[in-house]
Amino acid sequence: MNRGKYYITTPIYYPSGKLHIGHSYTTVAADAMARYKRLQGYDVMFLTGTDEHGQKIQRLAEENGVSPKKYVDDIVDGIKKLWSLMKITNDKFIRTTDDYHVASVQKIFRKLYDKGDIYKSEYEGWYCTPCESFWTETQLKDGKCPDCGREVELTREESYFFRLSKYQDRLIKHLEENPDFIQPVSRKIEMKNNFIKPGLEDLCVSRTSFNWGVPVSFDDEHVVYVWIDALSNYITALGYMSDNDEDFRRFWPADVHLVGKEIVRFHTIIWPAMLMALDLPLPKQVYGHGWLVLDGGKMSKSKGNVVDPVVLVDKYGLDAIRYFLLREVPFGSDGVFSNEALINRINSDLANDLGNLVSRTVAMIRKYFNGIIPENRVKGDPDDDLITTVIETPGKVEDLLDKLQFSTALQEIWKTISRTNKYIDETMPWVLAKEEEKKPRLAQVLYNLAESIRIISILIQPFMPETPEKIWEQLSICQSCRSWESAREWGRYSGDVPVKPGQVIFPRIDLEKELKELEKDTSDDSVKKDLPEIKPQVEIDDFAKLDLRVARVISCEKVPKSNKLLKLQLDIGLEVRQVVSGIAKHYSPEELVGKKVIMIANLKPAKLMGIESQGMILAASDKGDKNLVLATVDNDIPVGNIIS
Ligand code: MSP
Repeated sequence: MNRGKYYITTPIYYPSGKLHIGHSYTTVAADAMARYKRLQGYDVMFLTGTDEHGQKIQRLAEENGVSPKKYVDDIVDGIKKLWSLMKITNDKFIRTTDDYHVASVQKIFRKLYDKGDIYKSEYEGWYCTPCESFWTETQLKDGKCPDCGREVELTREESYFFRLSKYQDRLIKHLEENPDFIQPVSRKIEMKNNFIKPGLEDLCVSRTSFNWGVPVSFDDEHVVYVWIDALSNYITALGYMSDNDEDFRRFWPADVHLVGKEIVRFHTIIWPAMLMALDLPLPKQVYGHGWLVLDGGKMSKSKGNVVDPVVLVDKYGLDAIRYFLLREVPFGSDGVFSNEALINRINSDLANDLGNLVSRTVAMIRKYFNGIIPENRVKGDPDDDLITTVIETPGKVEDLLDKLQFSTALQEIWKTISRTNKYIDETMPWVLAKEEEKKPRLAQVLYNLAESIRIISILIQPFMPETPEKIWEQLSICQSCRSWESAREWGRYSGDVPVKPGQVIFPRIDLEKELKELEKDTSDDSVKKDLPEIKPQVEIDDFAKLDLRVARVISCEKVPKSNKLLKLQLDIGLEVRQVVSGIAKHYSPEELVGKKVIMIANLKPAKLMGIESQGMILAASDKGDKNLVLATVDNDIPVGNIIS
């Protein structure tokens, strides 16, 4: 049955480092929705991807001494692997460095320029590089970025501007006429009062101080502001302004953009205004969910294993992690992620409530009836009560999922699981089994249990990709009674194939022991685990290809407009070389002059911020380059000497 189309998106992620469990939150939620809509018979388009341009990425690449594309390629690979590990069923993965995206963004920019909605002027203001956001003086909080609290930089440059102010009234009207456009309601009020009503200013939409971005096609000194580039992904991925825009015509407008609360602003002001300027319909909804934080505060990469989704999935299993993410916190609110809360959920909801229900039922059908429930059954109390609860659940779950209420939808399913467990206590099958004449009643009780589990297993599919299959195997649930619609029909369990005991679906975890182990993991020796693996062996000849020399710093200066780069002139005996190095945060130019360092003298020259670097100097640093020390050589060793 085809019920129409459903287009859902996640934000596209910055490939600036490894993703943590908080990042998986949006994607797992979107995946649950996509799975649910597919099960209902919708033609689903589920889009995710990576947001690869901008000053932040360019700087990170410079610091790592590689090109921005090289820098992001590895990280994007890791992100794709993570989504596949988490069984994310996205239909498309867009990279903003993909050619088709770049071409469409250029056309979008041109179209807005031709229309007069983009014009050239001069920009002066404050820029927060980590957030890639512009701020006016009055928007700053204590002189810092109001979103993240970090330092901002004063920027002045010739720029293109988007006439955001022109769309203010239409935006307000749209919000009033479409009460569901921004959800939850609290975010709508925040947007309207804090951002739109005080007045929208035209937005600076191009930059000239760096070049890692989509070039403006008619003025190639400028690159398109990264948020214009990024937001466009929702339509360029569908082929907007390309030769093949079939998907665009089928799926646009999006049914929902799922985003974290801090980027609701971009999605409910800039994006709709862009779409209005392009004469395109607006997405039906933008849903701003809350943040998962750690007990002690914000989640960050430095928290290592504790928040590494790969480690968590490996330790506790995919379905447990997905369940926790969607169950623990009402979608829309902020919530705390802790290992203790996770393990408690696994033990109580998954191992105890669901796992035990399945294993007890399978065990009883085997023990009392050799695996097949007989046809001769007798109804009794409280069958009707159980059946009513079970059969009403699919409707409730659908209503809640349609409102993206994952946690309450799961609560409804778990109420049914508890009701079913209570039914075992009420009917006491082990007592019925003692008398031969009560066997028909026992058969009915076990049938009701198996049938309740069948319906439950169908309903958990959007959230858990692995568990339903395990349940179907153990209870021998036939293909045709696994469909989403069949969850509304009581009595589809045929039970003509013997049940098969399988592995425990969710093993219990010893909380105390596990927490102790985790403590060990996060203590000092986890630093060892955080170290990159040793690279594959090379031949001595490969090593010999490198020309490592003793070099003396003759002079050194800061690279203008960069707070990371230093430009050094190095004496290597045979000649003087210019090297650009990302060490400005760790060394002042003065303290470097006279130092003897180690240089790779035969590295192909590269340009960093437009300045040629004719080699590289060696340094030791920790992850993220918080600490960095140059590798230096004793003063007695003459310059130009080879290091081997
Ligand atoms: N690149 C932009 C989005 C552009 S969309 C056109 C971006 N990327 S991000 O990688 O920083 O964040 C991606 C998503 O992850 C955001 O929705 C953000 O809210 C979400 N999360 C990052 N940390 C999070 C938590 N700790 N908890 C929940 N979600 C969080 O923003």
